[in-house]
Amino acid sequence: MFFKRLNLSFKFIDLKAVVRTNYCKPEDLSWSEIPYPQVADDEVLVRIYYTSINRTDCANLMAKPFIMRFVLGLFKPKKTTLGTDFSGDIVELGKDSKCFKVGDQVFGFKDIVAESQAEYAVFKERDLFLIPVGLEKDIAAASLEGAHYAYSFFQLADIQAKQKIFINGATGAIGSALLQFVKTLDVHVTASCRTEHMDEVLEIGADKVVDYTQEDFTKLKDKYDVVFDAVGKSTFGKCKPVLSANGIYISSELGPFIQNVFLPVLTRFTKKKVFFPIPKKVEQTIPFISKMLATGKFKPLIDRSFELDDISEAYQYVMSGQKKGNVLLKIS
Ligand SMILES: NC(=O)c1ccc[n+]([C@@H]2O[C@H](COP(=O)([O-])OP(=O)(O)OC[C@H]3O[C@@H](n4cnc5c(N)ncnc54)[C@H](OP(=O)(O)O)[C@@H]3O)[C@@H](O)[C@H]2O)c1
Repeated sequence: MFFKRLNLSFKFIDLKAVVRTNYCKPEDLSWSEIPYPQVADDEVLVRIYYTSINRTDCANLMAKPFIMRFVLGLFKPKKTTLGTDFSGDIVELGKDSKCFKVGDQVFGFKDIVAESQAEYAVFKERDLFLIPVGLEKDIAAASLEGAHYAYSFFQLADIQAKQKIFINGATGAIGSALLQFVKTLDVHVTASCRTEHMDEVLEIGADKVVDYTQEDFTKLKDKYDVVFDAVGKSTFGKCKPVLSANGIYISSELGPFIQNVFLPVLTRFTKKKVFFPIPKKVEQTIPFISKMLATGKFKPLIDRSFELDDISEAYQYVMSGQKKGNVLLKIS
């Protein structure tokens, strides 16, 4: 009843959203007012509490790499409101909705823009997942983008008990989630970060930490069964000496000359291999993340939270490549 009454009133006002009508730099970004979204029969209206500002948002903002324009819009973005993930609650159901009720607390992630950096957004039911009971909405929003990609890395490596694993960039959104997923297995993990973050990386599960400002991990004497470069700062060639005889290299970036796309084919019949992670569907990743959150095996690292007025500064900070874990945008 409360929400129905609310619907009647809030539909006459515009809502705040982070909008870009052309691909642009973070410096050119601000929030605008946009008309209230219409809820189609097969859609659900969500009031957004938090979204993260992440590296996927930055890529969507600027359409970089260029190849993204084939999905986002060749000359202009097809979807003008930014945002890929969210936590919030359902305030209105389309006529055909079957799975949720008004008041349900939900979260979700869509890499090719969920238009969630706004006070309200519409979604298909298949895009929504219930937030684990008792989980704070900021934690929920911080558990999506990095953890979604981390799951794809984790699955691809097919890690076996007692293996030795190296994670480069264990304080990134992907790296910090990946470290916690990998540590659910009986393995030994060495992870890298800067000096100030060493204790935190040990706290989230690393057995050993390498300070990348003091030591180049590709020159370590130890050998690893899997090297995950979660910040894409290395190459397979440089990591070969630290890979065990049948070691696997996985990077979050395409690498110089987009080599990480081709190397999996070239190394197919060699002992040391490169795997390229194709992101899994959210139907696979978010239920896994929810289970990890609910069982306390995963807790996202949160760097800081920005308000809508500071949206340009927030994107600039994320683009610096030095955020720790996840950066949030508080909406409601
Ligand atoms: N393949 C995909 O589908 C996909 C999707 C999303 C993102 N990405 C890419 O994946 C990468 C990681 O994304 P993210 O959001 O997890 O990153 P992020 O959170 O922006 O990573 C920031 C962290 O990187 C660490 N770092 C910076 N330079 C480093 C170095 N030389 N060695 C080790 N660590 C270093 C920093 O650690 P300290 O603070 O400890 O210095 C910082 O905490 C980005 O390059 C992004 O473009 C790929």
